[in-house]
Amino acid sequence: TAVASDRGDYAGVRVLITAGGTREPLDPVRFLGNRSSGKQGYAVAARAAARGAHVRVVSANVALPAPAGVEVTAVGTALEMQASVRADLGWADVVVMAAAVADFRPAAYVESKIKKTHDPADPEAAPVIELVRNPDILAGLVAERGDASTPVIVGFAAETGEPGRSVLALGAEKLARKGCDLLVVNEVGVDKTFGLDDNTVHILRRDGQPGIQAGPASKAVIADAILDAARDVRLGSLA
Ligand code: CTP
Ligand code: CA
Repeated sequence: TAVASDRGDYAGVRVLITAGGTREPLDPVRFLGNRSSGKQGYAVAARAAARGAHVRVVSANVALPAPAGVEVTAVGTALEMQASVRADLGWADVVVMAAAVADFRPAAYVESKIKKTHDPADPEAAPVIELVRNPDILAGLVAERGDASTPVIVGFAAETGEPGRSVLALGAEKLARKGCDLLVVNEVGVDKTFGLDDNTVHILRRDGQPGIQAGPASKAVIADAILDAARDVRLGSLA
């Protein structure tokens, strides 16, 4: 598939991207995780670099090579990702939050491996794992930015839809709730999007301007559409 030419419209622009999926450890051998491969975040990183940007990626559990010219910081958990992103908030002109962040983590880390028979009094019993909420990294960035127009903040939403509520309706609600400038909405299911190379997304704008549909297309083409939309928001706010 053709990609947009490397026209340098991001020359000198500093782009911070989260990619992959956080893993929340339960014991030394187990974690709570998700199916995110990191491909879309890495595609945004590669395209931003090709268009002239300085690019940093905060990468959670991604088994992909670093794109050329991109600085990668590896993290494991949501709390580690939050610390890394906050440290770069003042650096970034554009933040693209493509990572799938675990909403919850185990309330306690168990220092030694949980055994199948964990309660000698009841050898057949199964444990109940208590969870606590992780911070919402994106909402935290929006709050820290306050009234400033920089950085432009791009959120992602993977939605399956619900009875009576379409993927797009859920996306519009999420955009209003999160307060980011753009929300990239894609439809997911076990057989859709995760780990696949082609993708269809809707890019919704908080300022009420019409959204864009991109795809079905390669993640590189989707990445260019996301970067086009973020550039337009940025130029609009600088004008
Ligand atoms: N996100 C985040 N921190 C979290 C959870 C999500 O920064 N703890 C970011 C994701 O990187 C993504 C956006 O928020 O850019 C939306 O994630 P999503 O899971 O779709 O939103 P939630 O508010 O967690 O809603 P849901 O109940 O649908 O999971
Ligand atoms: Ca979530």
